[in-house]
Amino acid sequence: MSIFRHNSNVRKNKTMIGHRDFILTIAVLLILAAVALTMIDRTDFSPELLPPEANAIYRQAGLPIEDRVNDLLRRMSLREKIGQMALMEKNSVKDSNDVTQYGLGAMLSGGGGKPKENTPEGWLEMVTELENAALQTRLGIPLLYGIDANHGHGNVPGAVIYPHFIGLGAASDPKLVSEIAGATAEEVGATGVNWIFSPTLDMPKDFRWGRTYEAFSDDPLLVENLSSAFITGLQTNRQDGLMILATPKHYLGTGAALWGTSTNKKFKIDQGATPADENALRKEYLPPFASAVNSGALTVMVGLNSWGGEKLAANEYLITDVLKKELGFKGFVVSDWYGVYEIVKNDDYRSAVRAINAGVDMVMLPLEYKPFIRNVNKAVARGEISEERINDAVSRILRVKFAAGLFDQKDAKHDLSVIGSDAHRALARTAVSKSLVLLKNENGLLPLSKNINKILVSGSGADNVGRQCGGWTVEWQGIDGNWLPGSTSILKGIKESVASSTEVVFDASGNFAGETGQAEIGIAVVSEKPYTEGWGDNANPTLDRSDIDAINNLRKKSKRVVVIIVSGRPLIISDLISDWDALVAAWLPGSEGRGVADVIFGDVPFTGKLPLPWPKNISQVPIDSDGKTSDQAAPLFVRGFGLGG
Ligand code: BGC
Ligand code: BGC
Repeated sequence: MSIFRHNSNVRKNKTMIGHRDFILTIAVLLILAAVALTMIDRTDFSPELLPPEANAIYRQAGLPIEDRVNDLLRRMSLREKIGQMALMEKNSVKDSNDVTQYGLGAMLSGGGGKPKENTPEGWLEMVTELENAALQTRLGIPLLYGIDANHGHGNVPGAVIYPHFIGLGAASDPKLVSEIAGATAEEVGATGVNWIFSPTLDMPKDFRWGRTYEAFSDDPLLVENLSSAFITGLQTNRQDGLMILATPKHYLGTGAALWGTSTNKKFKIDQGATPADENALRKEYLPPFASAVNSGALTVMVGLNSWGGEKLAANEYLITDVLKKELGFKGFVVSDWYGVYEIVKNDDYRSAVRAINAGVDMVMLPLEYKPFIRNVNKAVARGEISEERINDAVSRILRVKFAAGLFDQKDAKHDLSVIGSDAHRALARTAVSKSLVLLKNENGLLPLSKNINKILVSGSGADNVGRQCGGWTVEWQGIDGNWLPGSTSILKGIKESVASSTEVVFDASGNFAGETGQAEIGIAVVSEKPYTEGWGDNANPTLDRSDIDAINNLRKKSKRVVVIIVSGRPLIISDLISDWDALVAAWLPGSEGRGVADVIFGDVPFTGKLPLPWPKNISQVPIDSDGKTSDQAAPLFVRGFGLGG
C-alpha cells in the first residue's frame, strides 16, 4: 500500500512536475520567441561591426565627403542601412526611442503634422527630440526632418505665408523667388527642420487639377528659371553651417496626367495617368529637373502618378537611367507618401522590392516601419534586392546628410524670432503686389484714388486670411477664417491704405442693407475654398453662387465694380466678366493682404502676367505647353497676358 501510496505520490509528483515543466518550457519558449521577435526588428549590432571611434574618418569635418561616406558605410550593418532608407511620418512613430532603436533615417510632418503645442517653440522641441534620438544610435547618424514648406513655414501659425507658387509664376521674378526661399529657410531652420518638399516643378495642363496652384506655370522655361532660383536661395541660406535641403518634385510629368484616370477613387486627376511620351519627356518635363540638379538639388521626389500604366516609383528607366545616369544626379530619390505601396496592390513586399530596384533610395513609408525593415531584409537575403543597390541607396542618403552639414553641426542656435519677422512680412507683401495680374480695366478705373468718399467691399475672400493662404496652411487642407497671428486680410489692407476720410463698408453678401445710395466704388473679393491635392480636383472650377450674388448685389449699390479673384487656378468666368469694370487675379496671396491694396491704390504698379492661359470654358483644357487649347479656339486670356506694367 505504502509503495502504492508512495508510487501514487510519486506519480502525482511526477504529474505535477510534468505540469510545471511543461508550463516552464512553454514560458521559456514564449520568452525566447518574444526576444527573437524583438531581435528581428532591432538593429543588428553584431560584434564584428567596426566601432565608431571618435577619430573615425566619417567624423572628421575636413575630409572629403566621399571618404566619409565610404568609411561610414563600411561600419554599418544591413539593419542600420535599411533604417536609413525609411522615412516616417511623425504621428506614426509613437515613441521617439524607436528612432534610436530602429535607426530611422528620416521623419516628416505631413500637412498639418504639428506638435502638441503648435507654436514655434513646440516645433523646435518636437524636432529636436527626434533629432537627438537619431544621434543616440550606435553610429550617431543624424536625422533628416522634412516638411512641405511650399509657401513659407505653412504649418506654423505666426509664420509668414508667401503667395503660393502660381502667384510667384505671375510675378516671374527669379530674384524675388530666391529671397522668399532664403527667408523660408530661415524660418524652417529656426525650428530645427532641415529639409523641405519643395519646389514643385509640375506643369499643369488641366486646371481642374487640385494642385494647379502649387506650380509656377505650365511653361517649362519659366518653371526652370524660378525653381532653380528657389533651390539656390534655399540651399545657400545656411544657418549655423546647416543647409536646408530642397526637393524638386514630382518626378515626372505629374502635371500632364489625364482627367478621369486617378487611381484614388475619391479623386479625378490627382495621382492619375500620364501618357508615356518620350518627346514631351525630353522637351518639357525633364529640362526643369535637369536644371534643378545643376542648381544643386540633392533630393528628388517621385510623383504618385503613373507613366505608361506603371506607377512612377517603379519606373527604372525614368529614375535610374534618366535621372541618375543621364542627368548625373548624385543625391537620393525619395518616394511620395504611400506611393510605393500602390505599385503592387496588397503586396507590400513586392512593392518595396520593385521601388528600390527601380532606384527609389528612401521610401516615404510613411505609416509603418517594422514590416518595411523586415521586407527589405528578407529581399536582400533572397537576393531579390542586391547589396550593391542597398549600398548605393544608403551612400546617396549619407552623401546628402554630409553635404547638408548635419554631421558637423555643433550647438546649433535657434533664433525663433525670425518666424513672422517684419522683414519677412515686407518681402511677402512685395511678392503679393508683384503677383497680381490685371485682366480687365475699363476706362483706366485702376488704380483707385485713396480719397474716395465711400468704398463698399463684398465677397467671401475679402476678410478671410485662410482663403488667401489656400491649402497647406496649418492644416493639410488649409483653414477657413481669420485667425493667423500677425496676418492681414485684403479688407484690412484696404482699410489701412485709404485716406482717413474714406469710409470702407464691408458686407460679405453684398446686401449692404443700411446703404441707400450708390457708392463710388465697390470691390468684390471672391474666392475658392481652400483645398489640397485631389480634394481640389474640380470638374468645373468657377465662382460659387454666393460670390456671384455678392458681386451682383454690390453692383446695385456701387457705380463701378472691381472684382478680385482669390483662387488657385483660372476660374471659368466668361459669362460674367462683361458686367465688371475691372478684374484682378490675386491667386493665393498668403498672409500679407496689404500687398493687394498696394497695387489697387497705385503705390505699386501692376506688373504680373498670367503664368498660364485662362480658358474660356472647361472644354479648352487640357491646354498644351505651346498654348494650344483642346477645342483649338483662343482662350479668354493667353499666357503672358496682363495689363499695365
Ligand atoms: C504629396 C507631396 C508631399 C507629401 C508629404 C504627398 O501626399 O503628394 O507633395 O510632399 O505628401 O506631405
Ligand atoms: C498628410 C499629407 C499627405 C496626405 C496624403 C495627409 O494626411 O497630412 O501631408 O500629403 O495625407 O494623402
